[in-house]
Amino acid sequence: MKVVITGAAGFLGSHLVERFIRAGYDVIGIDNLITGSSQNVAHIESSNFKFLEHNVIESIPVEEKVDGILHFASPASPIDFDKIPLEIMDVNSVGTRNCLEFARKRGIRFFMASTSEVYGDPLVHPQNEEYFGNVNPRGIRSVYDESKRFSEAMIYAYKRFYDVDVRVVRIFNTYGPRMRPDDGRVIPTFIRQAIQEKPITVFGDGKQTRSFCYVDDLIEGIFRLYHSDYSNPVNIGNPIEYTILELVQELEEVFGKSLQLDFKPLPQNDPLRRKPDITKAGDLLKWKPEIPLKEGLRKVVKWFKKTEVEY
Ligand SMILES: NC(=O)c1ccc[n+]([C@@H]2O[C@H](COP(=O)([O-])OP(=O)(O)OC[C@H]3O[C@@H](n4cnc5c(N)ncnc54)[C@H](O)[C@@H]3O)[C@@H](O)[C@H]2O)c1
Repeated sequence: MKVVITGAAGFLGSHLVERFIRAGYDVIGIDNLITGSSQNVAHIESSNFKFLEHNVIESIPVEEKVDGILHFASPASPIDFDKIPLEIMDVNSVGTRNCLEFARKRGIRFFMASTSEVYGDPLVHPQNEEYFGNVNPRGIRSVYDESKRFSEAMIYAYKRFYDVDVRVVRIFNTYGPRMRPDDGRVIPTFIRQAIQEKPITVFGDGKQTRSFCYVDDLIEGIFRLYHSDYSNPVNIGNPIEYTILELVQELEEVFGKSLQLDFKPLPQNDPLRRKPDITKAGDLLKWKPEIPLKEGLRKVVKWFKKTEVEY
């Protein structure tokens, strides 16, 4: 069995490559390294893994027979939204289409990494897969959330029109080793600031909530969804909510010291609350997150300290 994984050198893509290889697959990873790093996959045995440095907007440069394609290429960090907005929209439109065409021509399965951002700043809590979202089509985040919504629209058009075999995961906030320390997301930012002994930047009053899923839990859910026969979107994430201030407390316990806070105004269109309804993942995939926040944070802090990341 062999699959193509786009975005293979990214945070989630590299963990996904490992999961498929562990299950006995061969994997062809494609990545143009715009936000990823070849270091993330440098340790993977070359007998099962082939890496192609390539932009999926141009093509999917694979001739050999494969059984599926998983599209994980897309910058995902808020910090990228105003740095590389057009690249984000391209990979979630032209890039998604190239992957869908690749799947259509070969009659193979297509799997998409969509996002909880399709729900925007939701007006219902928790969000189940039937909720259509509350998205500002021209806000700073729209380059990401609207392009993911466009991806989903195109995926289901390909399903209806060409009967392509599709799977779509809507990923909620995930954290783990190999996140970039400067990627703007709250956990790596706080850990980096704590390691550097700098004040922790808290936006707003810190009472907004987030749910955090450890990467191993997420990848297990994705692996099960890929092998399921369910083609509509499925939320995967951890429904336990923490306020940002509670996250700080957890980190204080992990670091064994109190952390100084620096409050800043809330960025535009930053959702105040997002929480997945994971009933569907539970029923269909017998999946639920297993790793408590503190245990996950310990693993990430250990990884950040061990890895010589440039801060
Ligand atoms: N991490 C999360 O919490 C999260 C949440 C929701 C959705 N997602 C989705 O999961 C996927 C992976 O996210 P991540 O957190 O690993 O981000 P990441 O930035 O670490 O990984 C994305 C990878 O895609 C590559 N890439 C981007 N554009 C490309 C292109 N045109 N051609 C080839 N490669 C390209 C990047 O170089 C990078 O290695 C994305 O689709 C993202 O939208 C992630």
